[in-house]
Amino acid sequence: MSDVLFEITEDHLNTGLRGFPVGHLWTSKVDPIKGLYYVGWPIAEICDHDPEQVMFLLLNKRFPSGPEDKEFRADLTRRAGNFPKGVLDLLKALPREGHPMEWFMAGLFYLSMYGKQEDYAEDGLNLIAWVNELVAAIFRIREGWGDPIPSEPERGYVENFAHMLGAPDAHPEATRVMRLMHIMHYDHGGGNLSTLTGKAVASGLADIFASMAAAMAGLYGPRHGRANQDALNFIREVGDPDPEHVRNFIQNCLATKKLMFGFGHAVLRAEDPRATIGYEVGGKYFADDENVRIALTLRTEAPPILKETGKIANPYPNVDAITGSLLNAIGLTDSDYYTVLFGWSRTVGIAAQIIDERVYFRGGRGVPIYRCAYIYEEAPDRNIR
Ligand code: MLT
Repeated sequence: MSDVLFEITEDHLNTGLRGFPVGHLWTSKVDPIKGLYYVGWPIAEICDHDPEQVMFLLLNKRFPSGPEDKEFRADLTRRAGNFPKGVLDLLKALPREGHPMEWFMAGLFYLSMYGKQEDYAEDGLNLIAWVNELVAAIFRIREGWGDPIPSEPERGYVENFAHMLGAPDAHPEATRVMRLMHIMHYDHGGGNLSTLTGKAVASGLADIFASMAAAMAGLYGPRHGRANQDALNFIREVGDPDPEHVRNFIQNCLATKKLMFGFGHAVLRAEDPRATIGYEVGGKYFADDENVRIALTLRTEAPPILKETGKIANPYPNVDAITGSLLNAIGLTDSDYYTVLFGWSRTVGIAAQIIDERVYFRGGRGVPIYRCAYIYEEAPDRNIR
């Protein structure tokens, strides 16, 4: 007889699976107080590693030895060299009016059509290698910055991304911030909407590119990945880092039931360590940036006021409270792209989790097709529509 993990009562239904254990995962854990761990390592301890080393950790559940590290980088470089170039022409035909996330989802389907091998481990590594060029090309083509810049993967993963982006007016610290942001957003447990969706779609044996496109549709929503965009717009609305002004602004939000973007989280009950890392970088490199200053003031002023209401389960900042301001400070000022940057990173963790579920779980048989239960009931009002 196995242990009872969770008693399901009627109250748990229609709550978006909140807190339900669904399965195991090997990549990451989110502790309500201590936050994010990758394969047992607290995020704060490993966020200064090379991104390639942390990718290897999530894929292999251990850090690479020296030779493995070299081999993994060479493998990513080789795969990046096989990026299906036809995808770039297809991107050029997409309408500028489409949101960058719509371009991203389209691009993932194009990668599928050009490059899938129907092998989760192979396709997963190709996807991680290719998403770099895909996302950089989306920026350049959609923004009209010019033709895509040829990939030079031997520079390093994020360094190559920064090179391919060729962003006008990029800050000298841009690559440092992008490396950090990339690592911090790889994975966040197994049950966040995009990750769960990606694994669920892959359980029907859709290829990893199509599964990732579905995952990205989940990330696209304002309650999930688009929150970093909304958080920066919220900070812009605050408009002034003066503590008294910020306190009044928060009180006004509470009085008018306006959402405080960047605060609260479904699982966390303390400041998100990813936010802590972001605040440190903000204070160190961008202390004069107006939005960063507002974000830092919100960090100290908002929690006591939110706590005082007695109604808010988590009055502390999450990762979105600062990341938008950092991206803006490094010269990526169009917040429409922030969810794509989140997805560029999250692809790594979702790919790792899909590979685990499809290739390794249950002695290699994989998790069966997702099929949860819904309980039929009569609609309370038959004239509901
Ligand atoms: C994430 O990083 O995925 C977000 O914090 C959302 C979540 O964990 O549910």
